[in-house]
Amino acid sequence: MDVISVIRTKRDRGELSPEQIDWVIDAYTRGVVADEQMSALAMAILLNGMNRTEIARWTAAMIASGERMNFDSLSRPTADKHSTGGVGDKITLPLAPLVAACGAAVPQLSGRGLGHTGGTLDKLESIPGWRALLSNEEMLHVLDTTGAVICAAGDGLAPADKKLYALRDVTGTVEAIPLIASSIMSKKIAEGTGSLVLDVKVGTGAFMKNIEDARELARTMVGLGTDSGVKTVALLTDMSTPLGLTAGNALEVRESVEVLAGGGPADVVELTIALAKEMLDAAGIKDADPAKALADGSAMDHWRRMIAAQGGDPDATLPVAREQHVVTAPESGVLTRLDAYGVGVAAWRLGAGRARKEDPVQAGAGVELHAKPGDTVTAGQPLMTLHTDTPEKFDYALASLAGTYDIAPAGTAFSATPIVLDRIA
Ligand code: URA
Repeated sequence: MDVISVIRTKRDRGELSPEQIDWVIDAYTRGVVADEQMSALAMAILLNGMNRTEIARWTAAMIASGERMNFDSLSRPTADKHSTGGVGDKITLPLAPLVAACGAAVPQLSGRGLGHTGGTLDKLESIPGWRALLSNEEMLHVLDTTGAVICAAGDGLAPADKKLYALRDVTGTVEAIPLIASSIMSKKIAEGTGSLVLDVKVGTGAFMKNIEDARELARTMVGLGTDSGVKTVALLTDMSTPLGLTAGNALEVRESVEVLAGGGPADVVELTIALAKEMLDAAGIKDADPAKALADGSAMDHWRRMIAAQGGDPDATLPVAREQHVVTAPESGVLTRLDAYGVGVAAWRLGAGRARKEDPVQAGAGVELHAKPGDTVTAGQPLMTLHTDTPEKFDYALASLAGTYDIAPAGTAFSATPIVLDRIA
């Protein structure tokens, strides 16, 4: 087998054989295939696609590149959730303890933000003392004792994806449905969850900009999960505007705690409950009421135990950025559009995200929104507050907000986009 013939097959729109796929994934993981060769293959896949048989084999080869975890020793059914990434998407934070409070075990292997989308681990690391890196034994212990664990995937889990994802990120090859589907599903199947709910984001702030592509991605992932014995369901959800009122690490933790305390923005609460119901249903838990578990404090109790079990202090004061800049409404009227991508880029430029994998993030940086689409605003009122420790970044962040919102004359009719756009099972 040689890598050039594998690249040529895909470059010329051919179908990769199972042997070619197994070989190239294994050789890349071992360092025999070089990054520049894998980049060429990833670009050929992005341009020419893969059929279902190829995607299934590619996913299986990525799973086989590492270890598989197993939660059979737990007394509760396992349910996991994965979002394809968005702006202000803090849902995992209230969702994992909420579903645990309703009786499932939630093994939530999460990632860091890269580019304009935030990462769950970066958000939780703004809680003093909290640790993302756990050994497999520690992960199982936290899961068993608190019902939920949110941590980084260990080095042994789908190592082929770790290498390939980092490469795709710097070679413009992230937005390929076969590569996204195999990347996400290889980790989730190797993780060993019994059921999985996928939150496939659609809109300017998501990788999938239109609903047809999102449906295709969702169907591909649901098929991969189901064929591997993981009960898998996908919700397609709106990412044309940020979720909630915050985008940034500590800012989003604060908002998640508000949701766990029974408050928080309506869209975050709605999506958290919709995903919780899907997870409980997929795990076979029929008689739980997630709205009640938010209201009666049991989800909050699970959050506090989960954070403490990973070294965090749930009562600690969260970091606040040193400098703030308020953006005001230039005119009065109805806010009819607030673009998720622009806000995500602003938060990233303020220091909430990283430009390179090894960059540190600022815990307090980000964007706080004071109005959402559909709200009436008055000229001069605060629209958003930008937070950063490095005020020289304000101009750069403000540039990304130019043209990201529309204010129509007062009285203009506004119809809100539903949060859940479709369900694929
Ligand atoms: N999340 C992943 O884990 N992989 C992708 O390719 C995209 C989003």
